[in-house]
Amino acid sequence: MYHYHCLNAISQVGLDGFTSQYVRTDNLSDAEAVLVRSAAMHDMELPEGLLTIARAGAGVNNIPLTKCADKGIVVFNTPGANANGVKEAVLAGLLLASRDIVGGINWVQSERQNDLIAKVAEKEKKNFAGREILGKRLGIIGLGAIGVLVANAAARLGMEVYGYDPYISVDAAWNLSRDIRHIREVDEIYRECDYITIHVPLMDSTRKMVNREAIEKMKDGVVLLNFARDVLVDEEAVVDALRSGKIKNYVSDFPNTTTAGVRGCIVTPHLGASTEESEDNCAKMAVKEVIDYIENGNIHHSVNYPDCDMGICNSVCRVAINHKNIKNMIGQFASVFGESDMNIANMANQSRGEYAYSLFDLDTQVTDEVIGRIAHIDGVLKVRVIN
Ligand code: MLT
Repeated sequence: MYHYHCLNAISQVGLDGFTSQYVRTDNLSDAEAVLVRSAAMHDMELPEGLLTIARAGAGVNNIPLTKCADKGIVVFNTPGANANGVKEAVLAGLLLASRDIVGGINWVQSERQNDLIAKVAEKEKKNFAGREILGKRLGIIGLGAIGVLVANAAARLGMEVYGYDPYISVDAAWNLSRDIRHIREVDEIYRECDYITIHVPLMDSTRKMVNREAIEKMKDGVVLLNFARDVLVDEEAVVDALRSGKIKNYVSDFPNTTTAGVRGCIVTPHLGASTEESEDNCAKMAVKEVIDYIENGNIHHSVNYPDCDMGICNSVCRVAINHKNIKNMIGQFASVFGESDMNIANMANQSRGEYAYSLFDLDTQVTDEVIGRIAHIDGVLKVRVIN
């Protein structure tokens, strides 16, 4: 029997994917698996028995990835599962920044007691006039699952789309419409585009990547959209640029005291993936990842360990080892199995940065003594037996 704990509300449609072998627990300390959306985990004490954390969503900046890796806890996310929800929110953002729909709705609300509202509206509507997105140039920084969907949809709406991503995956490249112009220097996006939207993960290298210098290179009256993470952008520089008129609108899905209520900022309360469909998709994918990891030791879509898949174990048992990516680990594991007269029927080893993961299918049942010897090898972070 395994226990899972939800740190946020997770869609029941997804949780229904857990079989009767899994029980929900209210105590984090009892859990082998944690499901999370945006709960901040950096200062949380993680229980010894915790095997995995699955983030129902893409961003993982609320999870201490290295601390988890050091404890042999595999962290997953659900890339692409909420991409359509975020894409639709970005399209709404493009339109809200182009047509003063919010101003117009607020005006109607303020005049709701006015019997002459219909007549006055015809006079007042000039105050809410906007522009169309057809034929305008949209620059997309980051062509992952969301960026590609935004690019293709915007192109279908008649925008001229420039895409920038030096690390574009083969899958993303295949999915990208041929109408998207592939840009090699991000400065070209800054110089040429009327709308710029950012879709990169938050990492040390991307923090405040849209800074004062970048904003200076942009066209006057540019619209900047941020449905990725607020700290990717120097928002103080954005507020200055809104005041000077350099930026027309900043559309952000991340409210904070820097941007909330500032003229020209259109801020929503992190609604990008808050749709029934996205929440269901993310939860379903997260639960699948957890089950495959717990029951088979397979890793798909981890953000702190390498992907590794040996299917279902057809031998007597499988040993899964989370370890440091240092030399002679496999040699030491093989020696322990060999000295104990155990034949390795099949094995896989993958590494990612400082961390590695090995799976061994054995023809004999492994003993506690052998597992203890492996656990004591320098660099081993976690070892478990999957029968
Ligand atoms: C994500 O990281 O997937 C998005 O910010 C959406 C969300 O978490 O709700």
